[in-house]
Amino acid sequence: MSYTYSDVDSTSDPAGAVEWQERVDRWPQVRAYKRRVLELMAQAERVLDVGCGPGGDVLAVGADRCVGLDRSLAMCRAAAAKGATACRADVHRLPFPDGRFAGLFADRVVQHVEDPDRALGEMVRVLRPGGRLVVADPDQETLVIHIPDVDQNLLDRVKTLRRDIGYRNGRLISSLPARLAALGLADVSVDPFPLSLTDPDDAFGLPGWPRLWRNQGGFSDGDLLEWERGVEGSRERGFLYSLIYFVVSAVR
Ligand SMILES: C[S@@+](CC[C@H](N)C(=O)[O-])C[C@H]1O[C@@H](n2cnc3c(N)ncnc32)[C@H](O)[C@@H]1O
Repeated sequence: MSYTYSDVDSTSDPAGAVEWQERVDRWPQVRAYKRRVLELMAQAERVLDVGCGPGGDVLAVGADRCVGLDRSLAMCRAAAAKGATACRADVHRLPFPDGRFAGLFADRVVQHVEDPDRALGEMVRVLRPGGRLVVADPDQETLVIHIPDVDQNLLDRVKTLRRDIGYRNGRLISSLPARLAALGLADVSVDPFPLSLTDPDDAFGLPGWPRLWRNQGGFSDGDLLEWERGVEGSRERGFLYSLIYFVVSAVR
């Protein structure tokens, strides 16, 4: 299974991954939850953006008090080209001493990592006592898809695969409040934000999912035809893709 944003530089098109990220980051509903992340970082004098991607959030927090970190060279270069400081490193081994930051956030990163417990442990380690951690991710359990003319059973099978194999940690965010409390963090808060899309071409590759997961889903030629014709016909006829992003915050 290949996960584009787990290892951007190994994909066939890292520049395309950077471009897609920048495009999604401009969507008003994505900007809405990012505003909440920024609000939560407002009081922190030294901030780390883990998995900073193309660096827009580093600049939004302020280049004078925020640095980014990403395991992808393509992402670090895109961030640097904008004037953001971004270091190339892996969240599982953060290259910082204990207690270095007053604020730390990870937007759509934990869903991609190999070992979420280790990644969270590292994030907490580099946060100073009293510092704030913010993690934002969608929960794929909340995914709603409607495509007129595609049978509900086929939709349900595809949604299950999106949740369970489309991401490494497709529904981990809902367990974050409990995980952060177990790590000893306090003042845990959860803010949900919806994302709704009405153009299937915006929906993260949805037109090609059954073909991509043909073996895992046991899809027949008939299923593929039904899906692809259904998606094509749904463009003007009520296509809907919707899910909830959660912004989870806690204090060390
Ligand atoms: C979906 S993108 C989000 C980027 C950025 N946070 C944003 O909101 O635009 C996920 C980012 O996490 C990075 N990433 C994935 N696994 C990582 C890891 N183990 N350590 C550091 N960065 C990682 C990817 O390279 C990618 O840039």
